[in-house]
Amino acid sequence: MTMEGEKAGFSADLRQVGRVVATEAKPNTAYEFHFWTGEGSPVGIGTLVVVDAGATQVYGVVIEAWSFTDVASAMHDYIGMEERPDNEPMTRRPEVRCYTAAVLRRDPEEPVQPVPVGPVYLSDDVCVKRSLRMDTYAEKTGVPIGVYQNGEMLSPVLLDAEFLLGPEAAHATLTGVSGLATKTSAIEFLLQSIFATQDNVACVCFNVKGHDMLFLDYPDQSPEDPDLAERYEKLGVGQLTPDDFAMYDALGVPCEAFRDVHYYAPYKEDQFNLSTLRSNPDVTHNVSALAWGLTDILEFAEVVLNRDDIDAKADAFIQYINQTVIRDENGIKLSNGDCLPPVRTFQDLERWFRQLLKHLEDEKGGRGEEQFRTHNVMTIRKVYNRLSNLVTRYRGLLVERDERCADLPWGEFKPGSIYVIDIAKMDAQGQDLVVTRVVSKLREYLEKKKLGVEKCVVVVDELNKYAPSDGPETYLKKTLLDISERGRYIGLVLFSAQQFRSQVHKRVVGNCGTSMYGRMDMDELSTPGYQVLSRAEREKLATLSKGQLMVRHPHFSQAIFVKFPRPNILRGSDGIKLFPEAGELSLEDVAVRVCREYDRTVTTDAVRAVVEESDRESVINALNRIRLECPPDPLAVLKKLAKSQPQVAPAGPGGFGAPRVASAGGDDYDPFEKG
Ligand SMILES: Nc1ncnc2c1ncn2[C@@H]1O[C@H](COP(=O)(O)OP(=O)(O)OP(=O)(O)O)[C@@H](O)[C@H]1O
Ligand SMILES: [Mg+2]
Repeated sequence: MTMEGEKAGFSADLRQVGRVVATEAKPNTAYEFHFWTGEGSPVGIGTLVVVDAGATQVYGVVIEAWSFTDVASAMHDYIGMEERPDNEPMTRRPEVRCYTAAVLRRDPEEPVQPVPVGPVYLSDDVCVKRSLRMDTYAEKTGVPIGVYQNGEMLSPVLLDAEFLLGPEAAHATLTGVSGLATKTSAIEFLLQSIFATQDNVACVCFNVKGHDMLFLDYPDQSPEDPDLAERYEKLGVGQLTPDDFAMYDALGVPCEAFRDVHYYAPYKEDQFNLSTLRSNPDVTHNVSALAWGLTDILEFAEVVLNRDDIDAKADAFIQYINQTVIRDENGIKLSNGDCLPPVRTFQDLERWFRQLLKHLEDEKGGRGEEQFRTHNVMTIRKVYNRLSNLVTRYRGLLVERDERCADLPWGEFKPGSIYVIDIAKMDAQGQDLVVTRVVSKLREYLEKKKLGVEKCVVVVDELNKYAPSDGPETYLKKTLLDISERGRYIGLVLFSAQQFRSQVHKRVVGNCGTSMYGRMDMDELSTPGYQVLSRAEREKLATLSKGQLMVRHPHFSQAIFVKFPRPNILRGSDGIKLFPEAGELSLEDVAVRVCREYDRTVTTDAVRAVVEESDRESVINALNRIRLECPPDPLAVLKKLAKSQPQVAPAGPGGFGAPRVASAGGDDYDPFEKG
């Protein structure tokens, strides 16, 4: 099958470095061969080579190395050197260096025979392409992941988008020790690469660690703004090297920060400051609130309520509220002819429950009614008690009133955009709710093909914390399992990073089409998952330097070592130095800042005057409206809404409208319990 032209094409300039050798002690097989090299040959673990044996070409990757001389034992050498290691040897013994290579591909593919003896060459660009079968997809669906470097030569290594983003296979996972494995950086570079080569893909990132992914829209080097460039210079920001630029050139990926990034964070307890480190006024222009109301989270009742809280009866009543109560616009009629109020918000639900429970107590001449629409009054009280605590429990994320709700732009996702949700400051149960709801929504919109983009990558760092191999079955773990098993059919793709792959749920990593490894820990490498690698490969993994990765991908028959350039993105630690976190602001200051963001001519005094003479709750609502609608005249909106909003009467302890009143008895407090 080998065509003369092709063969001549790759062999003319190839550099011969060795010869295949097969001995009785170490025979070659169809999948592994040995070769020796001349002195000074640039061959090492991970080097790609090609054997040209006339009608057959075999491409391989070096996985093991050894060398020996003609000396029979150490004693012979010892005596030969007259027992002195610093003596000049009388004769120079020949030393032969041998390597074992694993077969990546053969031409022709059939018959599958032991690798023939023949000259061994270093692979060039064309051979690298053929070895990794990239020739079949490079043009159409190739996504650069890094370069294969051999001396001066940088050959691009591409992943196949059909196997990275679906539908053939999907998902990528990155493993490696903290700080040295460059996991987050590799994901950032891969995203840059995807956006540069694929249309119609967006990304949702969960920032789970401090300031890790909070400056994706700022370059690491030479920002356009001259003032900012000067500040970069002063702080010594910028770490890209000429080698990095050469890699960007070789890979054809633009060396720039992400163009379209949107940040979302829940409120702090005060409900007007956002809970994120990206709070410096110079960088808040693309930071929005993430605040959900009753209708947003009722279908996730299982996530927000403890398992023990919802027995079958309580679950049925929650379903009733979700399916009947919040959809009913006129209000449900009671037996005495009264109507319960329609429910949209937590605040409405509070009123609804109070009215319903009062009605049930008043019925039967004050002896009380036991049931409402087949639901027992005890169950109703229990559900009321649990739901009424949610706003307090998820303070900052869940809000009592619709005016305060703010969400991701469902249905209007833009290709090439990144939506970063900062959950770093949230507690575990808040993170659970955010990730579960966001992923469920993504799935719902992608299934209906209404997200605005065809594919969406979800980035989850520290996966071993969220989908551990042991521990309880959480809703979040179920959600992540679901993406990894079914996401590829609908375009929902999971990119994850973790220090210990062995501690992540097997089915999550098992479904990842592409696995990457940076510098690894020896303990982790000794776990069973890595026994498929040769000892030399494992040792190389334990000593990889920053920016080097080992990649497994469905098209590559063996693991391949690549290098990727530093992403041209401001590191979180530099970003926070350039844009230090702003302290907590008073409501007046937040109002001034929000208004001036949309209209620079608004004066501080004018805003302060409005806030001072208005009710706080209505000011908070007005600010949220302004943040959501970005009006050209924010002061006018503030004036209108701040004054027209009525004062909110706080509800009972733990009630939906209660501003930050913790219920005396915690979750178990029941406002209707007697005594
Ligand atoms: N391609 C690269 N080449 C060389 N150094 C790099 C490269 N990419 C990143 N680095 C350096 O490595 C550092 C750590 O990278 P990164 O934050 O991506 O690691 P990590 O594995 O995500 O760490 P952690 O486990 O702490 O989250 C970066 O601050 C950067 O200085
Ligand atoms: Mg990281």
